[in-house]
Amino acid sequence: MSDKKSFPQHVAIILDGNGRWARQRGRERTFGHQEGAANVKTIVRAAGHMGIKVLTLYAFSTENWKRPSLEVRFLMKLFKNYLISQLRELVADNVQVHIVGDVSVLSEGLRKEIAACEKDTAANDGMVLNVAINYGGRMELVHGMREIANEVKEGKLDPSAITEETITSHLYPSDAEDVDLLIRTGGESRISNFLIWQISYSELYFTPVLWPDFTVEELRKAVDWFTGRDRRFGGLTEKDH
Ligand code: IPE
Ligand code: IPE
Ligand code: MG
Repeated sequence: MSDKKSFPQHVAIILDGNGRWARQRGRERTFGHQEGAANVKTIVRAAGHMGIKVLTLYAFSTENWKRPSLEVRFLMKLFKNYLISQLRELVADNVQVHIVGDVSVLSEGLRKEIAACEKDTAANDGMVLNVAINYGGRMELVHGMREIANEVKEGKLDPSAITEETITSHLYPSDAEDVDLLIRTGGESRISNFLIWQISYSELYFTPVLWPDFTVEELRKAVDWFTGRDRRFGGLTEKDH
């Protein structure tokens, strides 16, 4: 399908730059997170309208616990408020929500909202929205490896039968699909432990634009850039034959 080739089905975004955005305005970092959350609403809606099938957003990494507890607490409250305030809109927009990451350590209140949001949007068959909270690419692999090892131990799986698909199927379910386009805002050119397995053939788009300034126009620019890529997956394109 030519459409599939030129349009990204799965877009992942590392939303970075909230703190700097606020500091540039002489405000607290938390103000940047608040503006960043407001921008998530705009971009989620736009991505759905553009026809993106899966959108995966990196909201909080396994390393972000190193931040001052005040900032961490603010972020957790923001996630909870986002899920509460956006649920109706997400249902109306036919978005299916999944939280990917180790949610077991999150507060009971947040876990409750996560469960409600996932349950109430489960029947939606429009865009899939994955929000990565307490997510780490390495941790995801460790988790998957443990499951595989247990299956081997229980005699359910022969080690020689382990394939790439086996590993993919043991990652966070809705996240397992390969990423076509990975966007990072905020000017850094690194992955910061985001989807390691799923981005092996992604097109990587790094922009200096800080997340609260990343408009729908910026998203279109990234998608347009993607459509101009020649994805060879190790092979050759027609003109090279
Ligand atoms: C990204 O913005 C949001 C999270 C990691 C939660 P930052 O908070 O990392 O903003 P900068 O990179 O310090 O500007
Ligand atoms: C990556 O941003 C994590 C998220 C956007 C959630 P960071 O700001 O935490 O990454 P580093 O520290 O610059 O690598
Ligand atoms: Mg950052």
